Amino acid sequence: MKTEADPVFAGNELRGRKFLKLTDLSKHELGYLLELAGELKQKHKSGMHEESLKGKTLGMLFEKPSTRTRVSFETGIFQLGGAGIFLNSDNLQLGRGETMADTAKVLSGYVDGMMIRTFSHNVLEEFAENAEIPVINGLTDMYHPCQVLADLQTILEEKGRLKGVKLAYIGDGNNMSHSLMTGAAMTGMDISIAAPDDYLPYTSVVQEALTSAGQTGGRVEVTSDPQEAAKQADVIYTDVWASMGQEGEQGNRKQVFSDFQVDAKLWSLANNDAIFMHCLPAHRGEEVTADVIDGKQSVVFQQAENRMHVQKALMTALMG
Ligand code: CP
Ligand code: NVA
Repeated sequence: MKTEADPVFAGNELRGRKFLKLTDLSKHELGYLLELAGELKQKHKSGMHEESLKGKTLGMLFEKPSTRTRVSFETGIFQLGGAGIFLNSDNLQLGRGETMADTAKVLSGYVDGMMIRTFSHNVLEEFAENAEIPVINGLTDMYHPCQVLADLQTILEEKGRLKGVKLAYIGDGNNMSHSLMTGAAMTGMDISIAAPDDYLPYTSVVQEALTSAGQTGGRVEVTSDPQEAAKQADVIYTDVWASMGQEGEQGNRKQVFSDFQVDAKLWSLANNDAIFMHCLPAHRGEEVTADVIDGKQSVVFQQAENRMHVQKALMTALMG
């Protein structure tokens, strides 16, 4: 009989499911995906390829730009024996008023899975409600769960564990802060988010993370003091001050966030063996100084690479 602790069980349970946010996974399923990602990475490095998605297609709909998400999904599905189809709303009938619901129903008849990057999380949910195939969140204004899967894989590789690891996130209470908080709470990490008062993460996400941390032994703290957050951190994480869609606020945000830069002084408050993380793209001289992001303890390119490995695990589990 299959038990919950059995990895095969978790894999089977994920087939056909949607992944719009990290809490769509149980803690056990999250652990399973990270384990599978590690195995697929090792296989990739040794030149072995598993064609677990042979003949399958992933549609990839982008309403915002992307380097990592697009290329990691497209190469990932190719390595698994399938193909990715890049779509953008300007070139689809969506741009001429066809509804998301109709688009979801039509595409469900062609492709085996959809990845979507859009603005409002509601749009993604509307697509998912009308789709009969797995739908993957490739970033919304609310969440970036695929990035955090890769981040958790990277922290595991670097620290050998997640439980009890202290992560300080310094900057905007945005999609990254939301998904990091959720992922940290689900895995028993200790997360401290430092953001300016008017740019704190959503209370609903903080509440949900606090509940989850109560079950895993994790800790969640939100502060407006970056020094307080950075103290004795094992990981310092930051993201851009103006996310995609907020270009018009860039000037104002540069002023508001000026005390939230990860520079050598803030970095010195972290543990000696701390790692620096950033989802990228980065703006050197704004949220992080070049000496920190280009320093020996920065793992930003390892994070970027892990997007491919962990998304291969995700696609295998959902679409296999
Ligand atoms: N980190 C990330 O999602 O990068 P892209 O915007 O390049 O996809
Ligand atoms: N917060 C950033 C993340 C980019 C990967 C944005 O939404 O633009």
